[in-house]
Amino acid sequence: MTINIKTPADIEGMRIAGRLGSEVLDYITPFVKAGVTTGELDRLCHEYMTNVQGTVPAPLNYCPPGYTPYPKAICTSVNDVICHGIPGDKVLKDGDVVNLDITVITKDGYHGDNSRMFFIGKPSILAKRLSDVTFECMWLGIEQVKPGATLGDIGHAIQVHAEKNGYSVVREFCGHGIGKVFHEEPQILHYGKPGTGPVLEPGMVFTIEPMINAGRREIKEMPDGWTIKTKDRSLSAQWEHTLVVTETGYEVFTLSAGSPPPPAFVTEKKAAA
Ligand code: MF3
Ligand code: CO
Ligand code: CO
Repeated sequence: MTINIKTPADIEGMRIAGRLGSEVLDYITPFVKAGVTTGELDRLCHEYMTNVQGTVPAPLNYCPPGYTPYPKAICTSVNDVICHGIPGDKVLKDGDVVNLDITVITKDGYHGDNSRMFFIGKPSILAKRLSDVTFECMWLGIEQVKPGATLGDIGHAIQVHAEKNGYSVVREFCGHGIGKVFHEEPQILHYGKPGTGPVLEPGMVFTIEPMINAGRREIKEMPDGWTIKTKDRSLSAQWEHTLVVTETGYEVFTLSAGSPPPPAFVTEKKAAA
């Protein structure tokens, strides 16, 4: 396995792609309300990318081996959908939780991949807690990132926090290297053992995107060939950032004015440094 080390020019290109990817989520936030369809959210994001940003939605017609081309610009994963929900005529209603996963391609060919959770109306206590724990899982994984750490360190930090809270980690889908290619090596597993796997080096760029289920970890594929649900129909949550390994730690690319602030364990560490 070879993990591509990005050049300074690549890193600058990825920084721009990441910010643009995050700004699509900022833009769509006020539209994520009861009564809107997932298809309308897709249409709005697609228009914003194309007409305002001059970016291209990476999912549209994306076709990994064994798949049919993905038909839409974004992924909308509602309630028990783990990932890759296809936007359509589904109307969002009070109490729903939805993950919007956005990947833009800039004019220079760089990908910015990120996702956030949204609540429609007031969330249940479980939905709020699952989303919060998943957000913490993502950031605990990010906090492991520095030269000399291993991919197993990232996965372990995520798995321990999810399982300590009584939740389970999806195994079939993972984070990934990213650059001018949407999905490249390495795979970033969201479970694992400390000190195992490839060692991180400055210039590696990848996503961390834990999918955490309230119930059991098993998945079920829908007949559309894309949508993945929890087998036990329990709720599932996901958050995603794209980042680079730096000389001293990490830099998250998918940040913008509307990004939810990192948990206190990140900001307090930064303040002390
Ligand atoms: N954005 C997803 C990820 O985080 C991939 C979506 S592929 C699609 O890797 F075709 F379903 F859009
Ligand atoms: Co991704
Ligand atoms: Co994504």
